[in-house]
Amino acid sequence: MDKLVIRGGNPLLGTVRISGAKNAALPCMAAALLTDEPVILENIPQVRDIETTRKLLAAMGAEVELGYGRAHHRTTICAKTLAAPEASYELVKTMRASTLVLGPLVARCGRARVSLPGGCAIGARPIDLHIKGLEHLGAKITQEHGYVEAATDRLQGAEIVFDKITVTGTEDLLMAATLADGETVMQNCAREPEVADLAALLNAMGAKIHGAGTSTIHVKGVSKLHGAKHRIIPDRIEAGTFIVAGAMTGGDLNIAGCDSHHLTAILQKLAETGVKTAVKPDSVRVMGDQPLKAADLNTEEYPGFPTDMQAQYMALATQAEGTSIVVENIFENRFMHAQELVRMGANIKIEGRRAIVRGKTPLSAAAVLASDLRASASLVLAALVADGETIIDRVYHLDRGYENIEEKLKGVGAEIRRVGDLLPKRAVGLTRD
Ligand code: EPZ
Repeated sequence: MDKLVIRGGNPLLGTVRISGAKNAALPCMAAALLTDEPVILENIPQVRDIETTRKLLAAMGAEVELGYGRAHHRTTICAKTLAAPEASYELVKTMRASTLVLGPLVARCGRARVSLPGGCAIGARPIDLHIKGLEHLGAKITQEHGYVEAATDRLQGAEIVFDKITVTGTEDLLMAATLADGETVMQNCAREPEVADLAALLNAMGAKIHGAGTSTIHVKGVSKLHGAKHRIIPDRIEAGTFIVAGAMTGGDLNIAGCDSHHLTAILQKLAETGVKTAVKPDSVRVMGDQPLKAADLNTEEYPGFPTDMQAQYMALATQAEGTSIVVENIFENRFMHAQELVRMGANIKIEGRRAIVRGKTPLSAAAVLASDLRASASLVLAALVADGETIIDRVYHLDRGYENIEEKLKGVGAEIRRVGDLLPKRAVGLTRD
């Protein structure tokens, strides 16, 4: 089990380059199931969840080429024949986003058998809205032995209103609707940039989608989709994480290759805490030479402040003068990082969905445990300013969504190293199926 060892105290100086967005790459890889022609995706991040998705698609019978050469991070997926349109529990339990194959498989093959994801560290995370939406499109759904089975001759366009805003629910149904017979209107959709990025790929494949990125999406079903080439958008959560790192360490850090239009709520909130930035369309420079001051936070669906940045913001709030009330409105159990931060010296009280963070408290290095992807990021941020050497265990959580984080941090002055049984490069790098 790999660990990260970080000695705090260094300001981060220089330029760090942002990778492709994991949460755009995952639905785009699933979208390749909708056609028997090759789909080429560029700017794919080298993270575990991409490798898991590669395995998932290959197990169904798709040909998946995944390469992280110097020139490109690219995958070519050709789902010519899908002998086994299903997603097994073994894979789904390691990555709940595997349920993104449900919609494409039903639409393409007329049937799908996908394991229910079960819960995860941050909450119950049901997929009832995915299932309800597919039933609206005419799929017959049964659930037994921990699996969802869906079947249809052909999906029928329909009017769908989501009871709750769901990102992968919107993406799942969007993919299914592209091959339905007739028009589908989806309301109360997620507006995340990753939804719009998926729609851009689907339209390049011949789909007829309007309104992606807004709360109402119109889809005119077509009989077939063709191959396409698409570049994945930059990862706005990775960018936000590094902006917080530059602010907390009192550095002067240029975050390059991001899309700053996706960062408005994050930049606005950080400005409230006194963080100084210089923003260009594809980069953000953060100058951490100002003391930080407390500011309350509410996580909301996009374009509000993202829940995926809540843990990182909490780490920053421990270094801000005053009391910050952090409210997590999206998931019911997303404060797992708080107790680990307390062990490092933070003053945080949890009351239901509210965390009361009193700063500024000096942090001291400790042996801490990562519990989920963004909680791990929060512990890295705290370790960068803690006094001494912090050891973060179970960093496989971090590897799910951050590409080469220790190289990127080392490149801008952090004292960080990975120890433990290093994964052979082939496990997350060049493979061919
Ligand atoms: C996506 O998860 C992201 N994952 C998450 O990022 C992100 O935290 C989340 O959206 C919210 O922005 C990917 O895109 C792969 P939801 P998703 O469906 O789609 C409830 C990360 O760190 N809900 O938008 O699973 C659900 O319980 C990950 O990169 C239902 O009740 O989240 C939650 O309370 C973590 N029924 C709320 O909706 C459903 O059928 C929002 O969840 C679906 C969701």
